[in-house]
Amino acid sequence: MKDPFPFDPAATDQILEWTARRIADGPDPKHGAQAFAALEPILGGSITADGIGGDAAFDLFTNTIVPSTRPFGHPTSLSFVASAPSRAALSFDAALGAAGIFAGNWDGGAGAIHAENQALRWIADLASWGDSAGGVFVAGGTLGNLSALHAAREWHRRIHGRRDRRAILCSSEAHSSIAAVARIMDVEVILVPADALGRMSGEAAKAHLDDHVFAIVANGGATNCGAVDDIAGLADLAAAHGLWLHVDGAYGGAALADPVIRPAFEGIEKADSLIVDPHKWLFAPYDSCALIYRDAGHGAAAHGQQAVYLDTVDKTHWNPSDYALHLTRRARGLPLWYALATHGTRAYTQAIAATREVAEEIAQGIAAIEGLDLLLGPQLTVILFRPKDMSEDAMIAWAEGHRRSGALLCLPTRWRGEMVFRLCIVNPQTDPDAVLETLKTLMP
Ligand SMILES: Cc1ncc(COP(=O)(O)O)c(C=O)c1O
Repeated sequence: MKDPFPFDPAATDQILEWTARRIADGPDPKHGAQAFAALEPILGGSITADGIGGDAAFDLFTNTIVPSTRPFGHPTSLSFVASAPSRAALSFDAALGAAGIFAGNWDGGAGAIHAENQALRWIADLASWGDSAGGVFVAGGTLGNLSALHAAREWHRRIHGRRDRRAILCSSEAHSSIAAVARIMDVEVILVPADALGRMSGEAAKAHLDDHVFAIVANGGATNCGAVDDIAGLADLAAAHGLWLHVDGAYGGAALADPVIRPAFEGIEKADSLIVDPHKWLFAPYDSCALIYRDAGHGAAAHGQQAVYLDTVDKTHWNPSDYALHLTRRARGLPLWYALATHGTRAYTQAIAATREVAEEIAQGIAAIEGLDLLLGPQLTVILFRPKDMSEDAMIAWAEGHRRSGALLCLPTRWRGEMVFRLCIVNPQTDPDAVLETLKTLMP
């Protein structure tokens, strides 16, 4: 048969040229979501029996699809947990796509898996974990938390021979994914009220512990307030009660690489599992979450798929599909590996420390602006503040105006019931002066 998908070298060149330009220039901060009614007349009907051709399809991508997306990779994107992929990691990601590597098992992706494991090793070293540590890159923190907590429950069942443990204990500041995971696992969540800084202590957790808990989840950087829980106290509590300790460092785990912040994570060496999303504060593109078990065997005992058509898979090597809920996967940890190999770990330490310094400078600037109340932070790189005497509607309108202009993505959240502004900085290129100039427009 003649190739049903004829190769068009000119189309490939066009895509690669655009890719190179985009990596060099970065996203346009004025871009953002468009309404369905705006997108449908252009993108609706783009799938036809005969095809619209590469030029037309790529034109839709560059002129409609990309401009209708939020530019999270831009240094002015300071809401949610944005992303700040390095140009090295982005360029490499394009090559990785072209390489078409199946990285579900060693047979399919040995070289890629070996390299990914180097990057996991770097993170495991930062947590002071020994040789038995290991894991896999999954799509995101939500899947990482699910896979870790499933391993926790299986471990608990094996160790204690009890199947009646049906609860996870975590802070009231735990990420929404923990509740989502609990729904999927059909277990309960015991919420321990966080303290004034959004932190859960071992003592507070102990007061809420009951006989149904099989795992404790510690925040290694709470999304809304940046708090790092009392990991050492929680590790002692977990050890005393034979429980698994999982650290959700999807956002904040990157700070393990910053010697100034590292002491806040004391006790992590005794945790059982950890997630860190390279697409958050480790300068890698979407989508990746490093899921690491202190003893990788506990991951393997819980995951992995069996079938006759998988019997030929070489089980003597590292098969990533054994460590999380997935089988087929791309080697999504490789952009982090490539950028780490290229720039060296010192560059990461410097970039993370520089991001922290940007957050500190912004927080100091906010404290100095009369009319703004600095409520919290920076904790890691999260800052909560509020303009005095501004209505909620006015705050929302202000945020929307600056989002649209591309000056700043700074959206409100709530803290102790009150609407506040939240900044979360993951990009060392964020300009504190420019941010503060924009914040001054909050003043009448
Ligand atoms: C602390 C924390 N945990 C988990 C997640 C979920 O990660 P993902 O969005 O990659 O699924 C996030 C996302 O912001 C997070 O901040």
